[in-house]
Amino acid sequence: MRRGIIEKIKRLAKEKNAVILAHNYQPPEIQDIADLCGDSLELSIRASKTDAEIILFCGVSFMAETAAIVSPDKTVLLPRADAGCPLADTVTPQALKAKIAENPAMPVVTYVNSTADVKAVSTICCTSANSVKVVNSLKENSVMMVPDKNLAAYTAGRTGKTIYPWNGYCPVHENLTPEAVLEQKQAHPEALFMAHPECRPEVLALADIVASTSGMLKAAKESASRSFIVGTEIGLIHPLKKQNPDKSFYPASPLMVCADMKKIRLEDVLCCLEEMTSEVRLPEAVRRAAHRAVYRMIEL
Ligand code: 13P
Ligand code: SF4
Repeated sequence: MRRGIIEKIKRLAKEKNAVILAHNYQPPEIQDIADLCGDSLELSIRASKTDAEIILFCGVSFMAETAAIVSPDKTVLLPRADAGCPLADTVTPQALKAKIAENPAMPVVTYVNSTADVKAVSTICCTSANSVKVVNSLKENSVMMVPDKNLAAYTAGRTGKTIYPWNGYCPVHENLTPEAVLEQKQAHPEALFMAHPECRPEVLALADIVASTSGMLKAAKESASRSFIVGTEIGLIHPLKKQNPDKSFYPASPLMVCADMKKIRLEDVLCCLEEMTSEVRLPEAVRRAAHRAVYRMIEL
C-alpha cells in the first residue's frame, strides 16, 4: 500500500514536472520521498534554481509562501493548507505597522518564520543561521526583531546592539526546560548538546553548539563527537541518523513535536498532486515587497 502510493507520487511528480521539498522536521516517510530536504530558506532557494514548474512544499505555510516569493513563475503547492506556525501567527502586518509608527527610523529585522505580508513591511529578513550577520550589516545600533524573542535575545548577545524584540516564541522550543536538558546530559554525559536559537536563553546557556537545523546537520557530520543531545523538533533526528549512521542522537525532550509539521501524510501529497489543490498565491504587491526584504538578506 505504502509502496503503491510512493510510486504514484513519483510518477505524477515526474509527469507534472514537480519538485517535492521537505523540511527537516517533516515525518520520515515524507522526507524519504522528497527530492530535496533542508531548512526552509535553503529549500526555497534550491527549488527556484530547478526547472520544475511546480514546487510541492512539505512544510508549513510560511515556508510555502517563501517559495512563492522567490519563484513567482512556478506554481507552489502546500499539501495541507492548515499547516501553520504558531510563531509566525504572533505578528500581523497591522500590529507591526503600528509598532513601526512609534519609531519609523528603527529598522525591522524579520525572521523568515513569518507570513509574507509581515515580511512585506520589514526592512530585511534573517534566518536563525544569519541573524547576527544581518543585524551587524545595519548601520543603526537599535533594531526591532520580529517575531521570535529568543532569537532576538541570542542575536543581541552576539552583536552588542540594542534589540527590541517582538514578544513571540515557538511553543515547541520555548517549552524545552533547562531541567529536561540536564536530565539528558546526566543520562548521556559524553554527548554534545545542540540547541536551536528559538530555545530559551537558560537552555542556550547549556549548549555546546547553537545552530539552525541545517547548522546542526553540518555540525554532527563534522564533529569528532559520537553522540549528541538534540535541542530542536524531533523530526531532525531522522536526517541526523540517516547522514551519520555510526553516531547516536537523543532528543532533548520527547515533547519537542511540532503538530503542524506532522500534518502532511503521503495521502495528502498524492491528493495535492492529483488535484493540484492548496496552491499558495500571494498578491503581487505583497510578493514584491516581501521579495525585497528576503533578497536584501540573500545579497549579504
Ligand atoms: P530552521 O530554519 O532552522 O530549519 O528552523 C525552522 C523552524 O521552523 C524552527 O522552528
Ligand atoms: Fe513554527 Fe515552531 Fe513549528 Fe517551527 S517548530 S514551524 S517555529 S511552531
